[in-house]
Amino acid sequence: MILTTTNKKGGTGKTTLNILLAEFLYRHGQKVLIIGLDPNCSISEVYGKVLQDQNSKLLLTGRDVEAYLLKEHTSGGTLSIIPEDLDLSMLSNIMDTKLKLEIRRQNFVQKYDYIIIDPPGTWNAQTRNAVFAADTIIVSGKCSPLDYKATLQYMDTLQECCLDSEVFVVCNAYNKQRDPGNIWAQYQQTFKDFLIPEPIPLVNSFQKLVQNPEYSIPSAVEKRMMNFISTVTGKEWV
Ligand SMILES: Nc1ncnc2c1ncn2[C@@H]1O[C@H](COP(=O)(O)OP(=O)(O)O)[C@@H](O)[C@H]1O
Ligand SMILES: [Mg+2]
Repeated sequence: MILTTTNKKGGTGKTTLNILLAEFLYRHGQKVLIIGLDPNCSISEVYGKVLQDQNSKLLLTGRDVEAYLLKEHTSGGTLSIIPEDLDLSMLSNIMDTKLKLEIRRQNFVQKYDYIIIDPPGTWNAQTRNAVFAADTIIVSGKCSPLDYKATLQYMDTLQECCLDSEVFVVCNAYNKQRDPGNIWAQYQQTFKDFLIPEPIPLVNSFQKLVQNPEYSIPSAVEKRMMNFISTVTGKEWV
């Protein structure tokens, strides 16, 4: 299964949620591959694999790529990555379905249970490659007026693409006290069936998790994360 968390805006929690998904599935015995497509190299930095000779620029240009196996879990799970390349932003004319074709040609779907793609926060060739490759698209927006508006516009953009993938919207970094303008209510009214019923809470330790993927998620947040992950993967996790 191929998943991507995406939006046309930066700072909406794409990388955070993609890493949470990957780390959760890896700890639950799944073979997980993360493909970084953001020229800002978020995945490379988080996992300390900056400037590697195997990277997603090669993948997008049709070369055979060997993913880096980062870790193996006692549950049997594995976490591998294909990191970004600083030159990714130069690939502005790449075909929108190139990544999808390469994932098939290089048999990644046979090798991994879950492939998670982390795109940049712009509607460009990298993002289009992520959404065209994905079976499930998660559009994340923080609980702020700006992110709500970006999410609204981005959903229109996705609609124009006539994708046959499943699309979810998730309201991220929600805190009741910090939502006086009722942005969460606007997410509910606007996105209805697309919306994950519970928002992802504002959790300061997500920063720690992104910097240190070994960090364990606070138990109060874990249940919400499990619900989120069960919804987007279409499978109950215990
Ligand atoms: N639910 C959350 N609670 C608190 N901080 C969050 C949450 N989600 C994301 N952040 C923080 O917001 C910032 C941007 O998140 P990031 O995942 O890098 O966004 P993007 O990949 O969309 O640019 C980071 O500092 C991250 O730790
Ligand atoms: Mg990011």
